[in-house]
Amino acid sequence: MCGIVGYTGKKEVKDILLNGLKKLEYRGYDSAGVAIEVNGMLVLRRCEGKIANLEKIIHNESIIGTTGIGHTRWATHGRPSEENAHPHTDCKGRIVVVHNGIIENYISLKKRLEKEGHRFRSETDTEVIAHLIEKCMSKAKTKDLLRAVHLAVGYLKGSFAIACISLDDPDTIVAARQFSPLIIGIGKEEHFVASDIPAILEHTRNIISMNDGQIAKLTPKKVDIYDLQMKKVSAQVMNIPWDPVTAEKSGYRHFMLKEIFEQPRTIEETFRGRISLDPAKIFLETMDISTEDIKNIQGIVFIGCGTAYHAGIIGKYIVENEAKIPADVDVASEFRYRDPLVNKNTLVVAISQSGETADTIQAVREARKKGAKAIAICNVIGSSITREVTGVIYTRTGPEIGVASTKAFTAQIVAVYMLALYLGTKKGVIKQQHLSDMINDLLCIPKQIETILKKESLIKVAAHKYFTKKDFLYLGRHYNYPIALEGALKLKEISYIHAEGYPAGEMKHGPIALIDQNMPVVVITTKSSVYEKILSNIEEIKARSGLVIAIANKGDKKLEKIGVDDIFYVPKTSEVLSTILNTVTLQLFAYHVAELLGCDIDQPRNLAKSVVVE
Ligand code: M6R
Repeated sequence: MCGIVGYTGKKEVKDILLNGLKKLEYRGYDSAGVAIEVNGMLVLRRCEGKIANLEKIIHNESIIGTTGIGHTRWATHGRPSEENAHPHTDCKGRIVVVHNGIIENYISLKKRLEKEGHRFRSETDTEVIAHLIEKCMSKAKTKDLLRAVHLAVGYLKGSFAIACISLDDPDTIVAARQFSPLIIGIGKEEHFVASDIPAILEHTRNIISMNDGQIAKLTPKKVDIYDLQMKKVSAQVMNIPWDPVTAEKSGYRHFMLKEIFEQPRTIEETFRGRISLDPAKIFLETMDISTEDIKNIQGIVFIGCGTAYHAGIIGKYIVENEAKIPADVDVASEFRYRDPLVNKNTLVVAISQSGETADTIQAVREARKKGAKAIAICNVIGSSITREVTGVIYTRTGPEIGVASTKAFTAQIVAVYMLALYLGTKKGVIKQQHLSDMINDLLCIPKQIETILKKESLIKVAAHKYFTKKDFLYLGRHYNYPIALEGALKLKEISYIHAEGYPAGEMKHGPIALIDQNMPVVVITTKSSVYEKILSNIEEIKARSGLVIAIANKGDKKLEKIGVDDIFYVPKTSEVLSTILNTVTLQLFAYHVAELLGCDIDQPRNLAKSVVVE
């Protein structure tokens, strides 16, 4: 979705904006633009398509200015075009605005502004903001941008993160946030504003995450933040431990592939310091829930969207199995609107890579309104969701740039695994030997992933056999049912091949009608409590001439005897942790199919990295 970057300081801003925008490309966009203040004039350059087009336009231009804002637009109101690209200006071209989010009342505002004589040049909702600021300046007889923005946002309904510049207030950027993420970067005699950390990570790791209803004024010398009553508020500066290099491709063809290969390390980072073997123990005190509170929990609800929801299903299963607490899982957009039965004895666990997914944020708010306790499993420090909950388990994977979630998902599995064991030990329902075995299994996972990654070429060979197929079915049972969903989601998002994930036991209740000699069925067959049942499902597929691609443990004689079309072997581990190894295999398979089809793997069509609107 849209991206914002802004800078005010002593350095030339053109490249800072372009490089920042490039770091936001992964969010998905269809046009881009910048506005730079140069000697009392605003230089505005915008274009449809990729940032490379914008770069071509301004490459040879000498645009020497030290304050500017830039934007990548993901079209909502009005088609992707130069006129609809941000920044947008007021009538006189003295005020420029970039905006993420949706202004819900823009039609009525536009009508009113047009009646008052304002001339609009785009089809966007954003343009009303520039004209509103202009109107507020003239109505309040002020040139003060901060004051005018404060008055203007009072008219807006919906979600917004905005950054504006005015020629009447040079060296100043005013930013405002309501339900759409916005951060401020603190440098030495320079300040940044951005919608996402990677945009400014090469310049500073000291970051303030703005809250909803806040307005900030940035100049090279200082940053002041105000609430909606224009009372100055203090803000916490956080140090983001991410290394800027982790936001680079480092020789890989795609971020997605790099992120798949990072998993041995990211999984280790996620459990490091949170588990010990001697004595076997889980340390999740950062969750900030007392042992007494844990004993009082009567139910746990996992919520998330997309891939994070799949991690939630694993969370439900493992919490019930290990902590013996009834658990549920819900898609955040369903949970928030279905009047869920939660109360002070419910623990809601929100799972989100970005911490900015609008539906998940609102679902957490809904749960808290009803008195539930809420914690988050999240990858981005200081993101919106982490500020809505009482405790956070951070997945420490570094920035995930590929739109298709990979390393964040496997880290989320590790997080729900540790959470279940932590709750189970606090409740006294897990035997010490069992805990020790489970921790031991987890410690082996990074090395086991490496053995899968080494066999990437075999997965690529199989991808060659299947990449022209039009439909895929993915089947798994119990812990590996969500992995079937995740495998299918990965394939469809990056290759645009239709794929469906199903619990294997459901195949007979409908999807079996689809099976013929053209239908590859990916079956997760690793050793588990439901292994024999899965073998029967494979027989059923074969009886209908379906193509079977199995994921299995080496030396699986029974499977080899049945005879399937392809087998990807993965190391043996416990049933719950097999989900991680099977996932890595399916990520590589989806990646190579998409690569063979020539798809835009890191920025698949129509998708956005964080879905910050409903
Ligand atoms: O940032 P979040 O984890 O909250 O994002 C949730 C989903 O939008 C995300 O997992 C999406 O499904 C990915 N494209 C999956 O690869």
